[in-house]
Amino acid sequence: MSTHSEIKRITTHTLQELKRKGEKIACLTSYDYSMAKIVDGAGVEVILVGDSASNVMAGHETTLPITVDNMIYHAQAVVKAVSRALVVVDLPFGSYQGNSEEALRSAIRIMKESGGHAVKLEGGIEVKESIVRILSAGIPVMGHLGLTPQSIYKFGTYAVRAKEEEEAAQLIENAKMLDEVGCFGVVLEKIPADLAKRVTESVSIPTIGIGAGPHCDGQILVVHDMLGINKEFSPRFLRRYADLHSIMTDAVRNYTKDVKSSDFPNEKESY
Ligand code: KIV
Repeated sequence: MSTHSEIKRITTHTLQELKRKGEKIACLTSYDYSMAKIVDGAGVEVILVGDSASNVMAGHETTLPITVDNMIYHAQAVVKAVSRALVVVDLPFGSYQGNSEEALRSAIRIMKESGGHAVKLEGGIEVKESIVRILSAGIPVMGHLGLTPQSIYKFGTYAVRAKEEEEAAQLIENAKMLDEVGCFGVVLEKIPADLAKRVTESVSIPTIGIGAGPHCDGQILVVHDMLGINKEFSPRFLRRYADLHSIMTDAVRNYTKDVKSSDFPNEKESY
């Protein structure tokens, strides 16, 4: 029987090693204890406590409203559940863009108060100073390029990014910068597959794609989307592995019916 202490934890070095060996890296989001327990137990290497919690947990239209306190709340629950995966926590909008001192303070709060293993933030050269400062405190940093949802009001649309060569070249430069300063990985969101391939071949760190094609070193999806809990969100890049929306709806309907008909609880379910 395996015990807790026998489980080999995934580290940033493990991810580097997986890239070197050509073994793909499986990543998913989680925001609470029960889901994280399932996701970790099923064997993904990275669990991202994404600021997508703003959408799927809090019901906001964008990721902008979520706070550092909210992220810490979600990450604490995830960290308690996880015994193997690397837990990466998103720095939310407004917690690192102002200046590098504020960025470091936010990252330290997240690491200290949640017990997460690393932070992720969005952007390239414009946040380089913040990234370097966070790294200098010994905190592992993951980058995020392409469609960066915290900049949705600048983009004006969730359409594919970097289709034109100018933006593509800039994205490659930013990826190289993230590699050079010491980030341990980079998420590439909603960019052409060919560009993701060029980035993956240009950097030594693992690239993790979402809507970025098959050539990335790993893949990530929002767990509620891939489990089919959300019905409304159907981008081309999403593969649904379950239809939990129907399963859960049927279960709740049946429960309601049983309560109303006094079928539940029965004698065996009573004391
Ligand atoms: O917040 C999030 O879930 C993310 C992933 C989509 C990469 O950043």
